Amino acid sequence: MKKSIVIDLFSGCGGLSLGFEMAGFDVKLAIDNWEDALVTYRFNHKNTATLNADLLNLDPAKVEQDFNLHEVDIIIGGPPCQGFSVAGKRIIDDDRNKLYRSFVRFVDHFKPKAFVMENVPNILSIGNGAVRDAIIHDFSALGYKVAYKVLIASDYGVPQNRRRAIFVGLLKSEFIFPKPTTEIRVTTKEAISDLPEETKNDGEGYPIRPQSEYQRLMRVNSSTLNNHQATVHTAETKRIIAMVPDGCNYKCLPKEMWSLRKVHIAWTRMDSKKPCFTIDTGHNHHFHYSFNRVPTVRESARIQSFPDDFLFIGSKGSQLKQVGNAVPPFMAKEIAKQLLKQL
Ligand SMILES: C[S@@+](CC[C@H](N)C(=O)[O-])C[C@H]1O[C@@H](n2cnc3c(N)ncnc32)[C@H](O)[C@@H]1O
Repeated sequence: MKKSIVIDLFSGCGGLSLGFEMAGFDVKLAIDNWEDALVTYRFNHKNTATLNADLLNLDPAKVEQDFNLHEVDIIIGGPPCQGFSVAGKRIIDDDRNKLYRSFVRFVDHFKPKAFVMENVPNILSIGNGAVRDAIIHDFSALGYKVAYKVLIASDYGVPQNRRRAIFVGLLKSEFIFPKPTTEIRVTTKEAISDLPEETKNDGEGYPIRPQSEYQRLMRVNSSTLNNHQATVHTAETKRIIAMVPDGCNYKCLPKEMWSLRKVHIAWTRMDSKKPCFTIDTGHNHHFHYSFNRVPTVRESARIQSFPDDFLFIGSKGSQLKQVGNAVPPFMAKEIAKQLLKQL
C-alpha cells in the first residue's frame, strides 16, 4: 500500500518525524533553519529530503515545485511561538505570530488531508483561551475540523511527564485523540539504569545487559552506546548535589544553601521511581537520580524515547538542545497511528 506523504515544518532533529515514520508514514521533506539539527536529521532519516530555510518567508509554491511535492497528505510541525497576539477572533499578523502564520500558509497551500500542530500547553490558556479559539478559527476557515488536547507523554510509554498541546485538523471528520497505551508508567530507572556513570566513547559496547523491557526496546537496533559523554562538574557542585537524595531538590539541602542558585528548579534530582520531569535543553540544574552529574545526551534521549540507534551530531550543548526540543517519538507515533486509522 502506498504510504501517506508527510512534510515536517520546524522539524528540528526529527522527533515528531520519527514517530510518524514508526507508524508507517513517508516523511518526504523536513524544513528547519538550524543546520545542526538538520545534520542530525539527515543522518537518521535517510529517505527524507531536508531544506535549511527560514520559514518566515518561504513560499510553499516554490517548495512544491523544488521538491516535486504535488500531493501532501499531512503537514506536521511545532511552530515556535514568542507570545501570541490576538485581535478579536484572529491571530494578528505581527512579528510574534509570523511563524505560526507560515504553518497556516503551508496548510492553505497544500490542503493536506490532515495537519498536526504541536505546542506548549499554555497556548490553550493565553488570553483566557483567545489564542486557542483563534487557531481553531484560522484552520476552520480553511475547511478543517479542529480538535485539540494536552497529551502527557508518560501515557504513551515515554518515561517522562512531558505535556504538550496538540492540535489536529481533518477535512472529513473530527480527530479522536489516542487513548493512553498503558496504565503502568515507565520509570526513570527503567529508562536509564543500564547506562554507566562515566563517559563511553561513541561506538563502545554496552557495559551491562539491559535491566528492563524498556531498555531492551531502546537497544533493539543498536549494539553500541553513543552520545554518552558525562559532564565533569566542579568539586563544589558534586559535593552539593551529593547531599540531595533521589527525587528531591534544593529543599533537601540545609536552608542556608537554598539561595546558592536562584532558580526554583535548582539542584533537582530525577526520581528513579517515577517518569522523569520534562527534559530540558541542557542547563545545569537537573541531575541524574544517583550519579552526581547532569544526564548525558543518551540518557536524555532515552527519556524522550529516542531509540539508541538514533545518533545525535554536533557539540554536546547542541545535541542536548536538539533532544530537549523534540516531541517524544513514542507519543508522536500514537498520534500518527490514530491518524492512519481515521484517514
Ligand atoms: C521545538 S523545535 C521542533 C522540534 C521537532 N518538532 C522535533 O520533534 O524534533 C522548533 C524548531 O523550529 C526551528 N525554527 C525556529 N525558527 C525557525 C524559522 N524561522 N524557520 C525555520 N525553522 C525555525 C528551530 O530551529 C527548531 O529546530
